[in-house]
Amino acid sequence: MAETDDVDLSEETIFTWGAPPLKFGAGAVDEIGFEMAQHGATRVLILTDPTIGSLGIPARIAESLTRYGITSEVYDGCHVEPTDDSMNAAVAFAREHGPWEGFIAVGGGSSIDTAKAVDLIITDGGELMDYVNQPIGAARAPRGRLKPLIAVPTTAGTGSESTAMCVLDVLSMKVKTGISHWRLRPTLAVIDPLLSLTLPPEVTAAAGMDIVCHALESYTARYYTSFDRRTAEQRVTYCGSNPVSDLWCEKSLSLIAQSFRTAVHDGSDVEARSTMMLAATFAGMGFGNAGVHIPHANAYPIAGMVKDYVPAGYPEHEPMVPHGQAVSLTAPEAFRFSFASAPERHLRAAALLAPNQDPPNHQSEQLPSALIDLMRDVGIPNGIGAVGYTEDDISDLVPGTMKQQRLLATCPRTPSEEDIADIFAKSIQNW
Ligand SMILES: NC(=O)c1ccc[n+]([C@@H]2O[C@H](COP(=O)([O-])OP(=O)(O)OC[C@H]3O[C@@H](n4cnc5c(N)ncnc54)[C@H](O)[C@@H]3O)[C@@H](O)[C@H]2O)c1
Ligand SMILES: [Zn+2]
Repeated sequence: MAETDDVDLSEETIFTWGAPPLKFGAGAVDEIGFEMAQHGATRVLILTDPTIGSLGIPARIAESLTRYGITSEVYDGCHVEPTDDSMNAAVAFAREHGPWEGFIAVGGGSSIDTAKAVDLIITDGGELMDYVNQPIGAARAPRGRLKPLIAVPTTAGTGSESTAMCVLDVLSMKVKTGISHWRLRPTLAVIDPLLSLTLPPEVTAAAGMDIVCHALESYTARYYTSFDRRTAEQRVTYCGSNPVSDLWCEKSLSLIAQSFRTAVHDGSDVEARSTMMLAATFAGMGFGNAGVHIPHANAYPIAGMVKDYVPAGYPEHEPMVPHGQAVSLTAPEAFRFSFASAPERHLRAAALLAPNQDPPNHQSEQLPSALIDLMRDVGIPNGIGAVGYTEDDISDLVPGTMKQQRLLATCPRTPSEEDIADIFAKSIQNW
């Protein structure tokens, strides 16, 4: 046919995009019973972390379930920034106390990701490592549909309620990795902005920077047509920037510009909290299909090799670099590096993120300077030096980034080991 004669099928022509249905708004959490009942579930497991548990949100969800004749149990052992051990503990609880006909995740990305892993293993069988991305795990694909999972975010950050992946720390290998498959995408995301009113400012700031990086990295990701053509079987969750993801990323950046500083400095501002929740979900709909690149790749070793940095505002009082801090610390320098490969996208993103910024002399500085202003205003540590790393650590950090080839391949300018070392060196102090 004439139409197909014109298309070069050695190049990629196809992008994919997916997201779960959403229920968004104040009070939405009280409709979870109705929603779960639509799936015919009569006994479900609610997964959360101890802090959210003590705020009474899981009990409120259980009450809503009871109204529809659904019994539930609460597992409140989800670890903040989950590990293989913490996920296996959640799976063991679910196995021991099952069977379950559905799952509800309530919390930040840590609880939602743990619930995704539990649903996967309980429904599809096997062990965690069977499903973890190669080369660390066997990257087994689930054989069929998973049980219904309703995701209820309480942070404005990860967008995990709309993505098809979960992230974990494999303790024995000191490496952060994930499981990604479209079947992991929650059945429904119930987003009730009022749940985020209790977030401490430090968590608001870190989770908010995660949104910013999701939107910026996926908006500046390699365009989907620039990848080698894949077969239907080879298609992966992340296909590069594309016209649909772009819309969500652009809108997310505008929402951030409106509300991020207020949400951090006046956490009781309901409008700012609502706008941040929307921004997180929008960015999830963007990056969850397009992918992220260097800042997220660098975040893996920054978080994985933590020494003794204990962040304020996180209740665990254990050394950790929260995901949102880890992704933002090298972002200004990473976007200086990637600028030349897609200048118009970097400039557009900077204009959306900082609409009132006086443009710096060099165009390549526009996005880094918008980011740095924001990071200073919301109280993000000043560079990887502020979370305990020195020049001497760079040779150890670089291999951790280079292992994230899946993410680095999404950068419009492919970085070498020297490039990554240079980005770390210039990110020891950001301002
Ligand atoms: N699956 C994905 O698509 C995806 C994307 C990005 C990040 N992640 C992962 O998500 C995790 C980070 O998640 P996060 O940033 O949402 O935070 P989190 O789940 O780790 O929670 C951070 C802290 O905030 C507390 N908290 C959460 N909601 C609260 C509330 N409403 N009031 C008071 N305290 C509250 C928690 O108890 C915890 O102490 C990391 O493991 C990261 O790798 C996943
Ligand atoms: Zn992230």
